[in-house]
Amino acid sequence: MDTNENSTQIPSSPLSPPCSHTDHPRTGVPGVSLHYCDTQAEIHRIVVGDLDNNVFFLRCRETGESALIDAANEHEKLLELCKALNVKTVLETHGHWDHIQAIPAVREAGYEVGVTSADAKMLPSYDYLLEDETVIEIGRLRLHTILTPGHTPGSICFRLEGSPILFSGDTLFPGGPGTTEFEGGDFEQIISSIDRRLFSHLPGDTLVLPGHGDDTTIGNESPSLEEWANRGW
Ligand SMILES: [Fe+2]
Repeated sequence: MDTNENSTQIPSSPLSPPCSHTDHPRTGVPGVSLHYCDTQAEIHRIVVGDLDNNVFFLRCRETGESALIDAANEHEKLLELCKALNVKTVLETHGHWDHIQAIPAVREAGYEVGVTSADAKMLPSYDYLLEDETVIEIGRLRLHTILTPGHTPGSICFRLEGSPILFSGDTLFPGGPGTTEFEGGDFEQIISSIDRRLFSHLPGDTLVLPGHGDDTTIGNESPSLEEWANRGW
């Protein structure tokens, strides 16, 4: 069992504020950790599959309801977490194969999966479409959609209202944009998405939670945009 979950519940993100709550759900699922916590929200993370995909559970502290972000893989663990964290919906940041392997199993278990129309055809199946500039309510939490095409035609990010949190999928990582080398990728488009939709609007202290690897912040990354555009990747 994960020591972080079992003992101190210190958030695993080095960028999370310290947490003194004692009421976090302890799911017993190996590998899951409390990743971020503030007064309204907590984020649990588990890393799954061959490409070490981050799967995030965003939970409303007031109502206990959650959203799962990217049903990537290892569906048995994800289903246990869905139950323990009272998941109400599953959101896909994009349709690449490594982010969608658990979708059949979560749908079979009754969870509804949302994806953008531009990436919907990459999924085996889904339940509803995500659109740009909408609000998804998870308990009292309000999650804003930001369409950021480039990594895939329908890549989308999610910004949490009232907390400095952005789920960036494979659009933005520490050190640059996600790859645009797969079918449907477009480098100029991802640079434009990051510039116009993320860096122009989000405060520098916004914590960026990508689909793989470590967190960063908008302030850490935004000075490098021109360098990325010039180097071409
Ligand atoms: Fe991807």
